[in-house]
Amino acid sequence: MSNPVPAAPRSAAPQFPDHLAAFRLDGARALVTGASRGIGRACAEALADAGCDLAVSARTTAALIDTAATVEQRGRRAVVVPADLSAPTAAGHLIDLAADALGGLDIVVHNAGTLPTSGDTPVMVPFHRSDRTHWDQVVSLNLNATAELCRAAHRHLIASRRASLILMSSVAGVMAAPMMEAYAASKAGQISLARSLAVAWARQGVRVNAVSPGWIRTAMTRHASGTAAVSDWLTSHVPMGRWGEPEEVARAVLFLASPAASLLTGHVLVLDGGVSVPDGGLAGIPKPSSPFTTP
Ligand SMILES: NC(=O)c1ccc[n+]([C@@H]2O[C@H](COP(=O)([O-])OP(=O)(O)OC[C@H]3O[C@@H](n4cnc5c(N)ncnc54)[C@H](OP(=O)(O)O)[C@@H]3O)[C@@H](O)[C@H]2O)c1
Repeated sequence: MSNPVPAAPRSAAPQFPDHLAAFRLDGARALVTGASRGIGRACAEALADAGCDLAVSARTTAALIDTAATVEQRGRRAVVVPADLSAPTAAGHLIDLAADALGGLDIVVHNAGTLPTSGDTPVMVPFHRSDRTHWDQVVSLNLNATAELCRAAHRHLIASRRASLILMSSVAGVMAAPMMEAYAASKAGQISLARSLAVAWARQGVRVNAVSPGWIRTAMTRHASGTAAVSDWLTSHVPMGRWGEPEEVARAVLFLASPAASLLTGHVLVLDGGVSVPDGGLAGIPKPSSPFTTP
């Protein structure tokens, strides 16, 4: 079988006048999905601060217009491209619309994702009592749309001299997450995909990495962060003892997107306050009893 990988890398190490210049992204064209709020909105703002023009996507147009306004306040261009990525072909269509609007793509931050929900409420039940509907809801957005988006992004990213694809996974993708099995499996799938594509596309000049946040204070975790017993119990299992903020994730994304990470591909950057460090559960340190009912 012939080897599809070119014999030589496409580019040499980039040169910069000083180290801070390697963190700039002036004139780069970036798409951020799930940019209507939370981590995605913070990513759009961080990339704009570094000099990117942005395409911002999610389902809620009004909230995207708000994100676009904060990008423009930072002196960068923003285009709003609404999409429901749970539809089978939506991700590919979105990539092409964003590339058309920006004249190409250098950076794709695929951040849209979901827990299983019933209305606005996350559904956390033992796996043997969960149903197929919730599995399909989570996997179709978190994993199937990711695959579709990566497939479509390739044709645009290979045309860039500074291509970076970043998948927003979760610490649930690198450790056990009982009662969140569908979510955890989809997030582990994203990590696996990032690693495989990083190697497959390395000599085409496309870096692919995953970010795995722990407990971050957003709409997705509003119920947990807003319920004292749950919040206290969760943070008691975080060595750093607090919630993370969306901006802390966005700065890690900015690093991965920038030429400062020029040798970094196939990596999973875990931002969890120490949760996933072996013994990060603070074995031996007294904690509040679990607020969850035993199945
Ligand atoms: N918060 C945490 O503790 C945490 C931890 C680890 C990983 N993460 C991951 O980080 C990412 C962002 O989460 P977040 O905490 O910022 O959650 P969030 O506040 O609920 O934001 C989710 C984003 O995804 C968009 N979205 C949801 N369903 C969509 C769909 N079908 N099509 C297109 N866009 C959709 C939402 O916008 P619309 O509703 O307008 O569509 C929103 O912009 C997710 O992938 C999540 O799994 C979060």
